[in-house]
Amino acid sequence: MPPVSRRTILIVGGVGGLTALVGGAGLLWGSTGSQLPGGTGTLSGADDLLQPEMVRSDAGLLRVRLSSAEAAVRIGGREATVLTYNGSLPGPTLVLRPGDRLEVELENGLDAITNLHVHGLHVTPRGNGDNVLLAIDPGDTVDYAYDLPADHAPGVYWYHPHHHGNTADQVAAGLYGAIIVEDPEPIAVTRERVLVISDLSLDGAGRVAPASTRDRMMGREGELVLVNGQLAPTLSARPGERERWRVVNACTSRYLSLRLDGQGLQLLGMDSGRDAEPESVEEVRLAPGNRADLLVDAASGSSTLRTNPVERGSMPGMMGGPTTTGADLAVFEVSGDAVDVPPPVPRQSAPRDLRDEAVTGRREITLAMGMGGMGASGMAFTIDGREFAADRVDTSVDLGAVEEWTLVNTSPMDHPFHLHVWPMQVVEYPGTSIDRPIWRDVVNLPARSRVRVRVPFEDFTGTTVYHCHILDHEDLGMMGIIEAR
Ligand code: C2O
Ligand code: CU
Ligand code: CU
Repeated sequence: MPPVSRRTILIVGGVGGLTALVGGAGLLWGSTGSQLPGGTGTLSGADDLLQPEMVRSDAGLLRVRLSSAEAAVRIGGREATVLTYNGSLPGPTLVLRPGDRLEVELENGLDAITNLHVHGLHVTPRGNGDNVLLAIDPGDTVDYAYDLPADHAPGVYWYHPHHHGNTADQVAAGLYGAIIVEDPEPIAVTRERVLVISDLSLDGAGRVAPASTRDRMMGREGELVLVNGQLAPTLSARPGERERWRVVNACTSRYLSLRLDGQGLQLLGMDSGRDAEPESVEEVRLAPGNRADLLVDAASGSSTLRTNPVERGSMPGMMGGPTTTGADLAVFEVSGDAVDVPPPVPRQSAPRDLRDEAVTGRREITLAMGMGGMGASGMAFTIDGREFAADRVDTSVDLGAVEEWTLVNTSPMDHPFHLHVWPMQVVEYPGTSIDRPIWRDVVNLPARSRVRVRVPFEDFTGTTVYHCHILDHEDLGMMGIIEAR
């Protein structure tokens, strides 16, 4: 592998260098499994990591009922009241194949408006498809249907609510689940796991703590960082075993910078972007909304899955930047008799490269923070100078266009830019020379920077959104509407 590969991984989060540990107010919650502030590397694993229930498509169809409602769950040995799909944190994992149809009956058992978004799936935004402009009232049930194209990219995706104004509150309280689109040719591993990483803060009564105005401006970060709803779980393997971890950053606003020192870590792909060959990595950065498809080769001993602190800029006119603290997430325990190392991963087909194709249009999209604005904060979070309006189309594109977008962040804080329906190829990134096609649906825009992406507007017409995936910022107005026609 050329040395450029490590830099490429950093594009994921691309959030500047690592900083020294900053002591977060790490809450010690419960008696089993402790999470120490800042990720100190002394973690005693508690219960075994559980897998969310898996539901698979059969003969091209997956039909599932998702009921969103308040529920009592156990976190770190104590009872907590959160929001869940079907009573579990996270919700069930939906397993699909390219070409499948997914039908979801979404029941709103919350006391607020909600809806459903299938993050990263390349499906129509029209009607009861991936339509985040739908508003489902409390007590109502709506049928969604999603038809995956036969050539849909395999990978890790996820679902979460997306009603403007309360997306962050609902995701932070527990509404999320993983979606897997399986590989056409299976990759041989000893076992597969889903790791949905989320964070939340609980008050003394075990209820989800409300976010302050300052939290929303910064992007809230929960005191507890959970894997599959668990605090500091243990994963066990034997030496030589190879695991596949499908990791979702479902945190409302927290950036992750994952390490698993002492074991072998390879990146198969991120979001819908799959490289031709897996590459060895030391650290994988995931902005809010990003996913990683990882191969873990168990070597020996006990390792901590850790997220390191991430510097993500500063807040205009305020003291102290929004530095994401680190945390110890889980223990990977390797013991027992060694097994034979599994066969190498078959070479994947080379990803499409839009740098070889004609661009039909160029535009610039600017994310900014300034004074004024709709919230109590007095701070406006804008795209192209405007806050979100549900009745205004901000960007129109022609079906079939291949556009080059220059994404400009004029603010002193990072913003992870997310476009629905159509994946983006990153063609220019600050401080990075890009040696191969990199496809993402969330691209971090470092503070005061410009990033260039190319987007093929293919297959679907209709209206959908792009926004900052610090979901607090999205709710504060950093979202725009795009129509393809
Ligand atoms: Cu993960 Cu617009 O969403
Ligand atoms: Cu999305
Ligand atoms: Cu933002």
